[in-house]
Amino acid sequence: MNVLGIESSCDETSVAILSDDELKANLIASQDFHADFGGVVPELSSRAHLQIVKPLMEQALKKSNLDLSDIDLITATAGPGLIGALLVGLTFAKGLSFSLNKPFIAVNHIEGHIFSGFLMKEKPEFPYIALVVSGGHTLLLYVKSFTEIMQLGTTVDDAVGEAFDKVSKMLGFGYPGGPKIQETSEKGDENKISFPIAELKGQYDFSYSGLKTAVLRFIQKKYKNGDKIPEQVKKDIAASFQKAAVNALLQNCKKALNDFDVNSISLVGGVAANKKLRNEMIKLANDHNKKIVIPDFEFCGDNAAMIALRGKTLYDAGIRNDLSAKPYPSLGENYFNIS
Ligand code: KG4
Ligand code: ZN
Repeated sequence: MNVLGIESSCDETSVAILSDDELKANLIASQDFHADFGGVVPELSSRAHLQIVKPLMEQALKKSNLDLSDIDLITATAGPGLIGALLVGLTFAKGLSFSLNKPFIAVNHIEGHIFSGFLMKEKPEFPYIALVVSGGHTLLLYVKSFTEIMQLGTTVDDAVGEAFDKVSKMLGFGYPGGPKIQETSEKGDENKISFPIAELKGQYDFSYSGLKTAVLRFIQKKYKNGDKIPEQVKKDIAASFQKAAVNALLQNCKKALNDFDVNSISLVGGVAANKKLRNEMIKLANDHNKKIVIPDFEFCGDNAAMIALRGKTLYDAGIRNDLSAKPYPSLGENYFNIS
């Protein structure tokens, strides 16, 4: 079965072709020009998706040695994400489904991330704990099967990726902040500044707004009147922030591993590209004697391979969508079978 995946929820256009268990193409076109604006500009994002989606699909077909008529299932991200951006990929996919007379599945982007570990050779084993860390979400989940997901915790304010991006901006490093903070941290002392980790009522919930504010206060207090922050201090701030941000994630994962009898743990989403987080999660899993699956970098950030895979699992579970499927901006009740 040849599955076409299309992803256009934010600033990456991606087209993938998954043929049974073999990923034949996963092309990702990143819209780097948003860096000039310090963040994603929705209107510009939609226009860029519109220009690239068709040529990217043609490239993916060529790479896979397939024709459009060989595609058996069409899948696309329906949400959450930027509405204009989502509309481009979703409408394109629905148009293909109609003209080729092939089934269509509307995929939830977060569910794409949750199951992205299944793109790896070593796959997660059910039930597993999934930590989804991205620019818009921070979720701790108990994943029982492809159709049963229980949410244990979420962020009560900012997402962890958002905190990386904001701290990066404070330090003058620009967007996207995650990779910049990671790189700067390598030459900083993570024990130099003690930033707080939030203690919350919901035992698996996260909060990043206090940490973000603590970094801002530290900078404002020490560098009044717009004084320049010395480069070494920037490195120490980045490293100390990264340590606190990662520890907050580990703390809740540890609780979940103690409380739930699972076979594995999977770290997914854009922030899963973070080296410190990857290393600490591997240690945590080893301490608990659990299998850990962290996707390769190409499957951590937004990509269509995870959309094709999720679409295929839904198709196999008997789910079908008609062409009335609409895009949605937030996770809301569109989350599959969440309890
Ligand atoms: O999953 P993703 O590509 O897009 C969303 O669905 O949000 O995640 C993007 C987020 C951004 O906030 C970016 O700064 C963060 O992932 N990120 C990182 C790293 N690489 C990307 N955060 C920390 N360390 C990294 N190496
Ligand atoms: Zn994402």
